Amino acid sequence: MRIDIVTVLPELLRSPFDASILKRAIDSGLVSVHLHNLRDYATNAYKQVDDYPFGGGAGMVLMAEPIDRCFSELTAQREYDEIIYMTPDGETLRQPAVNALSLKKNLLILCGHYKGVDQRIRDLWITREISIGDYVLSGGELGAAVLCDAIIRLLPGVLGDETSALTDTFQDNLLAPPIYTRPREFRGLSVPEVLTSGHSGKIEAWREEQAHLRTRERRPDLLDPGEDH
Ligand code: ADE
Repeated sequence: MRIDIVTVLPELLRSPFDASILKRAIDSGLVSVHLHNLRDYATNAYKQVDDYPFGGGAGMVLMAEPIDRCFSELTAQREYDEIIYMTPDGETLRQPAVNALSLKKNLLILCGHYKGVDQRIRDLWITREISIGDYVLSGGELGAAVLCDAIIRLLPGVLGDETSALTDTFQDNLLAPPIYTRPREFRGLSVPEVLTSGHSGKIEAWREEQAHLRTRERRPDLLDPGEDH
């Protein structure tokens, strides 16, 4: 997989890809992530990438021309499966969308900044608008990092244990059950006996029951998506 990210703050996006699982995925060639500084595509002498909104109001707007130039150059080199704009008014990111995106070959992500981006870029180029939650960040960069992390950890070969992503919270619309490691006793609390029984059928049944209980208690909306909660 190849991911291109267009941003006015590439420095914000370096460290997430420079540690742990994401770094390993990049180093082993399972994914490549390319950061593009929007300022390099500025069309005037001042390297300007933002301007005042027509009609007035607070905040600056990312200008259409630099983004259009950047996107034209990138799309001439390869076909993108999705051109994603990170924005709080996009679809809220959930695991099924992450699963689907992890199957794509080329993704292009635009990080919004300031007040956002000229609407004409959204109209002309963007195929998908994604929010990582109902709160406003100072830019799309952290959202893009979240999106990339969620996608990249699903790529085959990235996680050590190939099956572990399947048991994640949210796969199957269930939260994950409680987990324990050694020691068996800790400050008066014991590990549930079934987990040390060695009986894999019983362990599986216990985990499933606990996952349902936890989901019912904390996120009933996942079990009955049509209901009002
Ligand atoms: N940019 C600003 N807020 C955002 C959010 N919640 N999700 C994605 N991008 C954003």
